[in-house]
Amino acid sequence: MAEDDFATVARTTTLAPGEMMYVEVGDEPVCLINLDGAFYAISDICTHEEASLSDGEITGDEIECPLHGGAFEIRTGQPVSFPVVVPVETFRVRVVGDEVQVVRTGS
Ligand code: FES
Repeated sequence: MAEDDFATVARTTTLAPGEMMYVEVGDEPVCLINLDGAFYAISDICTHEEASLSDGEITGDEIECPLHGGAFEIRTGQPVSFPVVVPVETFRVRVVGDEVQVVRTGS
């Protein structure tokens, strides 16, 4: 993986623990999450229908979709609550200095 596959999307101070925000990595809509001080990135689009997960809610280590209440495990993207049954895509995240950088998994 090339170094420039990573894109800076936020500062570490942008999100407090328990907060999330919509960002874009290339053309990809991504939901960036600060979970207990660690940053995670998942696709912003729910795998059930067309809903923006960054408009949802964080409960524990899960993110709940705002449209039908389905939920995903933030660290893995695995579905944990109906009606979502398909995992949401996850993205690698790294922190360099005070920059939060995201790369698409597998690229
Ligand atoms: S669109 Fe997310 S649960 Fe239905």
